[in-house]
Amino acid sequence: MNEKTETLLRNKKELTDQECKKAMDFAVEQVEDNLSEFTDQFKKAYSEDGFYYPTGNVNWTTGFWTGQIWLAYEWCRDEKLAQAGQKQVDSFLHRIDNKIEVDHHDMGFLYSLSCVASYKLTGNPKAKEAAVKAADQLIGRFQPIGQFIQAWGPMNQPENYRFIIDCLLNLPLLYWASEETGEEKYRDIAEKHIHTAIANVIREDYSTWHTFFMNMETGEPDHGATCQGYRDGSAWARGQAWGVYGTALAYRYTGRKEYIEDFRHVTGYFLDHLPEDLVPYWDLEFGDGSGEPRDSSSASIAACGMLEMAQYMEEEEAALYRSIARKIMKSVVDNYAVKDKALSNGLVLHSTYSKKSPYNTCTPEGVDECNIWGDYFYMEALTRLSKAWNPYW
Ligand code: GLY
Repeated sequence: MNEKTETLLRNKKELTDQECKKAMDFAVEQVEDNLSEFTDQFKKAYSEDGFYYPTGNVNWTTGFWTGQIWLAYEWCRDEKLAQAGQKQVDSFLHRIDNKIEVDHHDMGFLYSLSCVASYKLTGNPKAKEAAVKAADQLIGRFQPIGQFIQAWGPMNQPENYRFIIDCLLNLPLLYWASEETGEEKYRDIAEKHIHTAIANVIREDYSTWHTFFMNMETGEPDHGATCQGYRDGSAWARGQAWGVYGTALAYRYTGRKEYIEDFRHVTGYFLDHLPEDLVPYWDLEFGDGSGEPRDSSSASIAACGMLEMAQYMEEEEAALYRSIARKIMKSVVDNYAVKDKALSNGLVLHSTYSKKSPYNTCTPEGVDECNIWGDYFYMEALTRLSKAWNPYW
């Protein structure tokens, strides 16, 4: 991190334990209030004018809502929450059995936060069954030529022959599956993907590519390209945040020391491009005065990554990252979290799912709204700041 960032951070206040508890109490209350509408149905990926509407279990994002239910259950142990979580596990089992919108790599986002969480907290055998099936689905997308898990679209077409940085968060499901089944194949594929991803996705200046294409014939790295970032050479804020958390998880699962260094660099780039209030604009190219919307979800994702990595560092460095995470979360709590239930049924405002630019290929949606993973990682960060937590990842 550069000197300007050090100065910026030095002058910021940390979230206190009391503020953290108050924020989490409100979040848990909001989740409980939402159960009547969102137990048989799920929350959509993003809010509209602050309000989420119901959807079936069909998108890549529904696990983030079930994950919030499990985090709320861990916080207050209200059985009503556990019952809602288990009901959603049934839905996830049905989804994987019937292969409903599972032809993509986001099995971890879907199944770690819903079914692995349920299994770890309650031992529900149906949750284990569903999560192992999801892991099988995920390894079915492994491309031996190039050694990566293909992110999107039908397999074996040059236009789809790529992975994306987000996938690092989908891999803990595979490690969990190896642990539970005793079968090495899941871990083996996760390890190969991590190696390919980290070797190619981090640029020389430690910004990151959102997506990266491999050559279908030779398996050699081909080129990076953005989908949701502003332009190819810029750093999409959430992609960089996935890189922060992804490198921390890569270290946790592989124990490879070089990933600690990667974490430091990717996190340094993220921090060096934060605006005054420590919550990034949707692409790190943009700063204060740009008039662009924020992506508050990136702030919480990066804070979770720093808190994960701090567990494996020497005390002095761990304390630094814990302090930064507390400072970022103070801004999220003070300036972005929902305080009035009449204005939103979500938890954190000012996130951006996908903003169209003249140079990117995404479908515009959920700009400057709550989004469901922003809400999930907000609760995860507050949980991590409150106690020793056994991750669902
Ligand atoms: N994983 C997709 C996104 O972050 O929008």
